[in-house]
Amino acid sequence: MTESAIAVGPVVLLGAPGAGKGTQAKQIARRFGIPQVSTGDILRENVAQGTELGRKARAVIERGELVPDDLVLPMVAERLTQLDCERGFILDGFPRTVNQAEWLDRFLESREFCGKKFRPVVINIKVGYNQLLQRLTGRRSCPADQKIYNIYSQPPKKEGVCDFCGTQLVQRKDDKEEVISERLKSYERQTLPLVDYYRRQGRLREIDGELSVDQVTAEMISAIEGSSAAGSA
Ligand code: AP5
Repeated sequence: MTESAIAVGPVVLLGAPGAGKGTQAKQIARRFGIPQVSTGDILRENVAQGTELGRKARAVIERGELVPDDLVLPMVAERLTQLDCERGFILDGFPRTVNQAEWLDRFLESREFCGKKFRPVVINIKVGYNQLLQRLTGRRSCPADQKIYNIYSQPPKKEGVCDFCGTQLVQRKDDKEEVISERLKSYERQTLPLVDYYRRQGRLREIDGELSVDQVTAEMISAIEGSSAAGSA
């Protein structure tokens, strides 16, 4: 049976800003043929397109704070009910608060993936503070195909240019040092409690995010494959 013929169910990626959620979500999405649903990417697209949601979210993102639930929850509900999510999806950057996690639990209670119910596989990518700072200040990304680079650990072949499409790489506005520190504070205050929330439910898998990108991916694949069989209800 091919990977694309079986249901994977929901996968939730937790981790601080810079832990590698986006990098890993792309690998997992490709490996299992499910979409990466990144709330940060969707919000940034809305900002770039100047939609009403983007206009409301822009200043909040640029301050490094969390966008209010009355904007984020309908946006996520709309994305997760699209057809490409019917075998499963990987959530990158959502949930970020206990309120969002409780909302997701209620949302998933009513959902089936290819006719089966799944509980989410929750993976926490753990990375130390100094490494997070270096990753965020060194991150560059391609605005055309969203490939992620790092000037220290994963530089492009030619400085400042995407290896795949040749587009000029950009630095995210919220990767400035003063905004990074706000993002890390809101992570500690609002998102870290989710680790305990999922641990209490016996759903949490923890991975050392300071390993190489390929090693982290391999550990994630094994966590997802191990949990998918056991995770269906
Ligand atoms: P979002 O876009 O979700 O940002 P984040 O959580 O701060 O996470 P990042 O995208 O910064 O980091 P990442 O973990 O994806 O790391 P990456 O793979 O890029 O959110 C942005 C904003 O949107 C929020 O601040 C908030 O305002 C709003 N928002 C989003 N979701 C929301 C929600 N649910 N509710 C409310 N508001 C929301 O990697 C980082 C760097 O490290 C890269 O350069 C990469 O190349 C490098 N790297 C990755 N892995 C490795 C490795 N193993 N070894 C060495 N380098 C590595």
